[in-house]
Amino acid sequence: MEAHDLKEILIDKEAIAKRVDELVDEISGDVAADNLVVISILKGSFMFLADLMRGLHRHDVHPRIDFLTLSSYGSDTVSSGVVCIIHDIREDIQGADILLVDDILDTGRTLAFTRELLLERGARSIRSCVLLDKQTHRAVEFNADYAGFPIDDHFVVGYGLDYDNLYRELPHIAKVTFHA
Ligand code: IMP
Ligand code: MG
Repeated sequence: MEAHDLKEILIDKEAIAKRVDELVDEISGDVAADNLVVISILKGSFMFLADLMRGLHRHDVHPRIDFLTLSSYGSDTVSSGVVCIIHDIREDIQGADILLVDDILDTGRTLAFTRELLLERGARSIRSCVLLDKQTHRAVEFNADYAGFPIDDHFVVGYGLDYDNLYRELPHIAKVTFHA
């Protein structure tokens, strides 16, 4: 791990809460309430998922929820380009309408991979929701249906996002500044 600090808060917790509520309003206006399966990509999306699901409850949306643990990063800050399934979902998603939830859309590989996987398994529709979108960093074409905040191409942690599995517990999004 390189020497670094987290002094710069990029998005504070009030701004996150406000934006999550807006996303929930959008999502609940779009999704079919009866056959919705929310698939949360771990580990990064756990905090975002929890807030989104409490929001959906206020709109009387009752999804099935499952978790897919994927890895593409290893312990570096640059994507390895290979997505591995660490732990699969258990729900039968044949004919289901899926909402994919991830922390951040970066190269697009994670969500493109997951989308293909779920379509092969018979999902009827797939929407995706990310808190952060590094739009300028795509390696494959992918657009999220719901995106919280566009961000520039720097490394961030907090609200589920990690650096070497640290800092996921922060209630805000902080920018990681590396020192020589
Ligand atoms: P993608 O497959 O390149 O789109 O990357 C998605 C995954 O990379 C996310 O689920 C994160 O786990 C990780 N990631 C990408 N950018 C960052 C970052 O700035 N901080 C922490 N994790 C990141
Ligand atoms: Mg990660």
